[in-house]
Amino acid sequence: MRLQTRSIHVGVDKDTAFNSVITPIYQTSTFRFEDVGVTKGFDYSRTNNPTRKALEESIASLEGGVGASCVATGMAAITTALHLFRNGDHLICTHDCYGGTDRLLRTYREQFGIETTYVNMNRLDEVVDAIRPQTKAFWIETPSNPLLNIIDIRALSEIAHEHNALSIVDNTFLSPYNQRPFELGADLVIHSTTKYLNGHSDVVGGAVVSNREDLATRIQWLTNALGQGASPFDCWLVLRGIKTLGPRMKEHEKNARTVAQFLNSHTSVRRVYYPGLIDNPHHELAKRQQYGFGGMVSFEVDGGYEEVKHVLRSVRVFTLAESLGGVESLVEHPCTMSHASMHPELREKAGINERVIRLSVGIEDVADLIEDLDRALRFRNAISFAEVCDGPAARA
Ligand SMILES: Cc1ncc(COP(=O)(O)O)c(C=O)c1O
Repeated sequence: MRLQTRSIHVGVDKDTAFNSVITPIYQTSTFRFEDVGVTKGFDYSRTNNPTRKALEESIASLEGGVGASCVATGMAAITTALHLFRNGDHLICTHDCYGGTDRLLRTYREQFGIETTYVNMNRLDEVVDAIRPQTKAFWIETPSNPLLNIIDIRALSEIAHEHNALSIVDNTFLSPYNQRPFELGADLVIHSTTKYLNGHSDVVGGAVVSNREDLATRIQWLTNALGQGASPFDCWLVLRGIKTLGPRMKEHEKNARTVAQFLNSHTSVRRVYYPGLIDNPHHELAKRQQYGFGGMVSFEVDGGYEEVKHVLRSVRVFTLAESLGGVESLVEHPCTMSHASMHPELREKAGINERVIRLSVGIEDVADLIEDLDRALRFRNAISFAEVCDGPAARA
């Protein structure tokens, strides 16, 4: 079955009691034993639960992995994966990772002696230079958050494997609809299912997907031991969201492309970050390794913090909020919001300056989104909406 069919059918034929078409919510903490030592495959919901298992099968199938563990949040997924490592191990991480990832990696260094070196993973020589005998994994996030840099997963996975290290990819920004890291050599995929997989901004959740049986078994063991498992109701909501992943991702991308083209021609915008634009330095790599460009767009306002605040306060259709990947459009300021937890030095090194605004472009009517941004960017002689629809922006 193809991806869109699998997103609807995998993990749903679970109701042996009444043959419900949709996976039931098994809202139970514990399960009755048939006899001493005999269960129907489930004994306690921290360890496993049928609704969670259905979601795990669905996500593993979409990513093309051998197994998945669904956990309480994206950060829980990262925490679980980091428990594969021990004191003295060394990781190499992309220098513009999600702020929460950096915060956790710093904590693991301080408390558990797991060292991380941050490098610009676009420079493969820098990655190779950072490798030590203790290097156990590359932590890859592509497209990066919020600047949408694209990293070559295949090249990095090959280098990682040459040095007996794991290739771990955070695939939150694209979802398996637009990128499947296992096809490019990754060993583990991380998701914040809070974002596109669920897609409706009503759940926080996460998943660790494995491409190797030994890793899948260890991650399941850790999920239970650490008590990370996602609740049945949250799993059910994500399963529900996944059924429309394909149609949503298509709409997100169509709108994001139009918004990026609009911003690219705007006099109040200094720079647009969207790999779908042909003049974006990562366009060719994105085209090669992704199935689509996704719905995230970042841009730098041509001004300072005052102008940034003006934009954030003026939007009406976009909502000023953290998170991304829901059907509604969101706007946020990475320096003071999603990336506030990132060490300021790392933030500067990654190029995340105070002019950057990040958009999660939703699936509303794109004309409303453009009008909204046009109004918010009117702190200078902004181009008009009509110009965008008929002028050079539309042809870019
Ligand atoms: C790329 C990425 N990974 C992980 C996370 C953490 O996910 P959660 O907020 O579900 O814990 C986020 C959150 O924004 C993210 O953007």
